Amino acid sequence: MSESADCPLPSFATTQVQTGYAPVPAPTAAVPPIYQSNAFELASLTHARDLFAHRADGDVYARTGNPTAAVFEQRIAALEGGVAAAALASGQAAVALTILALVGRGGHVVAANQLYGGTVDLLVETLPDWGIQTTFVDQDDLDAWRAAVRDQTRLFFAETVANPIAQVLDVRAVADVAHAAGVPLVVDNTVATPYLQRPKEFGADISVHSATKFIGGHGTVIAGAIVDLGTFDFAAEPARWPALTEPSRRLPSGESLLEHFQGSSPFIALVRAKHMHDLGPTLSASTAFQLLQGLETLDIRMQRHAASAQQVAEHLAAHPGVARVHHPGLVDNPWHAAAQKYLSRGVPSVFSIDLPSAGDPEADFARAETFVSRLRVLHLLANIGDARSIVTHPASMTHSHLSPRQLADAGISWSTVRLSIGLEDPADLIADLDRALA
Ligand SMILES: Cc1ncc(COP(=O)(O)O)c(C=O)c1O
Repeated sequence: MSESADCPLPSFATTQVQTGYAPVPAPTAAVPPIYQSNAFELASLTHARDLFAHRADGDVYARTGNPTAAVFEQRIAALEGGVAAAALASGQAAVALTILALVGRGGHVVAANQLYGGTVDLLVETLPDWGIQTTFVDQDDLDAWRAAVRDQTRLFFAETVANPIAQVLDVRAVADVAHAAGVPLVVDNTVATPYLQRPKEFGADISVHSATKFIGGHGTVIAGAIVDLGTFDFAAEPARWPALTEPSRRLPSGESLLEHFQGSSPFIALVRAKHMHDLGPTLSASTAFQLLQGLETLDIRMQRHAASAQQVAEHLAAHPGVARVHHPGLVDNPWHAAAQKYLSRGVPSVFSIDLPSAGDPEADFARAETFVSRLRVLHLLANIGDARSIVTHPASMTHSHLSPRQLADAGISWSTVRLSIGLEDPADLIADLDRALA
């Protein structure tokens, strides 16, 4: 607020709220600023009406986006080669909103057995509450993907590199099966990040991320993103996608989202205008700022993560105290050929080892506990993709809600220990692991 002839002397209370700041024009900060405002100045009531009717673009209220998050959205979409992105409050929200947007009540998902435990929880327990069922298949069994398709199937879901065993998805082959069934392939590209793999190049249609991991990169934030890779044609079978193809009550014009947002992303518009707006799992401006800091160094960090993990994996593969190393950069790994095809810049640093098994879960847990308790450089945390190296016991931690059958289908046993190799000196990590295995 400024002093003028018709408003000469603002009171103390008005001054303390408004003096010294005019919403426009903004200073030209070199780094994207944190727009810590939950609502944005609207030029006029007519402009407000146009924004609410989606006749004009602009910031209104931060539940459906803010200018700092918008920079992150454009950057992650560009890095993935996509057309648009939505920034969410967590990776879990990114997965959930993608499925809710594409799969209505009575709908069906075909998903890989090899998934992060929280995604399994969502698919087997929470989404059925919304009338959405899932069939799980071995991600390498193309006939199983094909056989699982029903009339109600609306998407295929898999991780490009699965957490925690690092099975490498044959994206091209699974995308072909999905497209033959008339549905998109949604991939969780958290572990690879767009630096190590751009799933669009192999036929995926939508990419989701837990930006909590390598994108943030420093163990400080929870965040997620959905990227529309712009490849799926929702107009080919309009009856399958009523939320996109029928007149939308979010648009006073009576158009469908597909009509109104053609040329951009009707799918991301649906996520933003309906699911972010109605359910509210939005990314904050301060978290978006931290993600932008992370993205600026993603390539060099991923190179270092991948090179160090390869070195650690090779060392552990020759260690008598380790029964098996599940790292697709090793030539005898079942997914080594897939890694060469899909991960030409390097293999992600999230992988697992199996300690020798006594054949009894309690005994195997005790051995894992001894191993973990001896580590000094690697930290026991329920996380991956941090600058710090991390050790996790999936069967008792991240995947503890899975049944014995689901654990086996995902390739996890009570001897399995997950490693996320950070940015420390790999020699220190190897020495720490050797000490713990002795
Ligand atoms: C592969 C993968 N996807 C999704 C998630 C969920 O992400 P967030 O913890 O950010 O909600 C995780 C979390 O560990 C994950 O590892």
